[in-house]
Amino acid sequence: MNHFLDIHTTDPAALRGMIDQAAAMKAARKGLPKGTPDAEQPLANRMVALIFEKPSTRTRVSFDVGVRQMGGQTMVLSGTDMQLGHGESIADTARVLSRYVDMIMIRTFEESVLLELAEYASVPVINGLTNRTHPCQIMADIQTYEEHRGPIKGKKVVWTGDGNNVAASFLHAAGQFGFDFVFSGPAQLDPEAEFIELARSKGANVTIERNPEKAVEGADLVVADTWVSMHDSQSTRQRRHNLLQAYQVNDALMAHAKPDALFMHCLPAHREEEVTSSVMDGPHSVIFDEAENRLHAQKAVMRWCLGK
Ligand code: CP
Ligand code: NVA
Repeated sequence: MNHFLDIHTTDPAALRGMIDQAAAMKAARKGLPKGTPDAEQPLANRMVALIFEKPSTRTRVSFDVGVRQMGGQTMVLSGTDMQLGHGESIADTARVLSRYVDMIMIRTFEESVLLELAEYASVPVINGLTNRTHPCQIMADIQTYEEHRGPIKGKKVVWTGDGNNVAASFLHAAGQFGFDFVFSGPAQLDPEAEFIELARSKGANVTIERNPEKAVEGADLVVADTWVSMHDSQSTRQRRHNLLQAYQVNDALMAHAKPDALFMHCLPAHREEEVTSSVMDGPHSVIFDEAENRLHAQKAVMRWCLGK
């Protein structure tokens, strides 16, 4: 059994295997109604708990559908409805849930909750986003890049805006998949130094370029995310908008990237804030393939967690 807690703590060969399996599973069910069971049923007789302490559309639906396509059953739990939200310890929750279910996916605030759950659970635990990281998103993003443009190794990925949880997982992936990563945002919102140092220690070429036009010069992939994440206080909203306005991804900025550059956004997006509709709906954008691939990538993650 394996936990899927982060990209940088997962073996690169295992990550590569998951991306390839995700692509194969996607191809195998092309055109089928979404409720059609997969030919293989690796989650037959398996029960999966999906715990959400924050809102979600993609993570919730893609995990639920993915488990069902592979023959398993799900229960979707809201953190506030559980005793977890009323003082029961994470360690006790982990040990109790492990008696009922075969795998746990959790979206939470503090990373320490995820790590403690994994420490005490005797079933695999999957990170469905914390304040610090979002590894499942980046698995889908790598799959999406490669299905459109081939291997991501050696490519130039430019992150614009807030150095947030999704940016952190991109940095982890830069180290594991060997692509160049450029962060372009204000110094106040840089990714944590630890993430940058880790990527560099694994040989990734990581740079910070404050000028967004210079940053996207020659980019193979441009990525944006919301300027205010779910864990950010709304009181910081105006300050963040002021700091980040210059980093909006619009047609003028995309014109500095390679002509065949892709644009990604994990969604939900705030149209005309971090990205314009002209880019989201334009020729560079693969945002809905990216959203779809959450399903396929996470199915591969779940199989790996269960050794299937
Ligand atoms: N990208 C993503 O994780 O979306 P949700 O918040 O809707 O799950
Ligand atoms: N950075 C965003 C990602 C949402 C999927 C957040 O944490 O709110």
